[in-house]
Amino acid sequence: MLKVINVVGARPNFMKVAPIVAAMKRRPAQFQPLVVHTGQHYDAAMSDSFFRDLELPEPDVHLGVGSASHAAQTAAVMERFEPVVLNEKPDWVLVVGDVNSTLACALVCVKLGVKVAHVEAGLRSRDRTMPEEINRLLTDQIADLLLTPSPDADANLRAEGIPPERIRFVGNVMIDSLLQNLERARASRIRGELGVADSAYAVLTLHRPSNVDRPETFSRILSALETIAKTLPVIFPVHPRTRKTIAELGLNDRVAAMKNLRLIDPLGYLDFLNLYSNARLVLTDSGGIQEETTVLGIPCLTLRENTERPITVELGTNVIVGTDTARIVTAAAAALNGSAKTTARRPPLWDGHASERILDALE
Ligand code: UD1
Repeated sequence: MLKVINVVGARPNFMKVAPIVAAMKRRPAQFQPLVVHTGQHYDAAMSDSFFRDLELPEPDVHLGVGSASHAAQTAAVMERFEPVVLNEKPDWVLVVGDVNSTLACALVCVKLGVKVAHVEAGLRSRDRTMPEEINRLLTDQIADLLLTPSPDADANLRAEGIPPERIRFVGNVMIDSLLQNLERARASRIRGELGVADSAYAVLTLHRPSNVDRPETFSRILSALETIAKTLPVIFPVHPRTRKTIAELGLNDRVAAMKNLRLIDPLGYLDFLNLYSNARLVLTDSGGIQEETTVLGIPCLTLRENTERPITVELGTNVIVGTDTARIVTAAAAALNGSAKTTARRPPLWDGHASERILDALE
């Protein structure tokens, strides 16, 4: 019997951990899963609603860390997680993704000599100004088992000198959640509530500090949206960081003047899945959404200069457009005139069974 602490911290962690914990519960003779929530995200819309939608069991331990600077947040997770590990004496700690909680918990374990597995290992944007890239690089250096979503991730790890026996290609666990929940998401009434017709709207998400904390960049993106929204309503579930910076940068009036740009509160997993899976176009700076739109065949414009998920560009619908106004508008026009890629593609091992392969690797 393996006792495994599964760490969640921020919104993009929940849909990765949910299918893993569910798979462990299906193998009770082999696995005793615990869920530890660091509290990096804490709003009901950023956390609780995902536990409900994804049927993720309530956390066994909640560290209640909350928001702070990178150093303070990372340190707080470490201080509060260490006694949990000492007390529970797990066989494995499983961390996912690239948020501050991922690195903080991995670092605690390696110093205590407790084995750590990193799910979604090996992704690289090669942009070290992104906090997530630092979290990825360091977590992969210290974790014992690196569970990768795509062959490019294996190649990145090998190029960094990681011994092959620490690397296991298991596929994309976030797609387990996507495929398991597609049917349930059909019951969502979100499109009716918003009054939008199928394929007659775009969905926008934006929360990277490099986009929303910089006035010039944010302004270039808004200029593109001003043009796009003339042809297509743009539904914009606003991340709390973005909500704050819109006010701080004095952009409230400009945004309010864009009648077809509809700011709404962050959505739960099922409502959001229902919304973007029926969209004409998605514009985003998220990592996970690049993958989800690839699997569903929804054109995706990534408002960044790079991606740690190149397979979504090679095989999928993703186009890296950066933050130049004209480039964004031109790429959006391709989606509107029907020339964007819309073929749904599942890269190798994005098959809904990554969580079982993760369990096999832990055993
Ligand atoms: C974090 C992750 C990022 C991930 C994103 C998804 C890191 C370094 N960043 O960024 O990789 O893509 O989550 O959402 O780990 N806030 C709230 N309520 C919440 C959470 C945050 O109001 O529940 C506000 C706070 O004002 C906070 C700000 O949002 O200061 C940013 O939150 P933080 O967790 O620091 O980073 P994210 O931008 O959410």
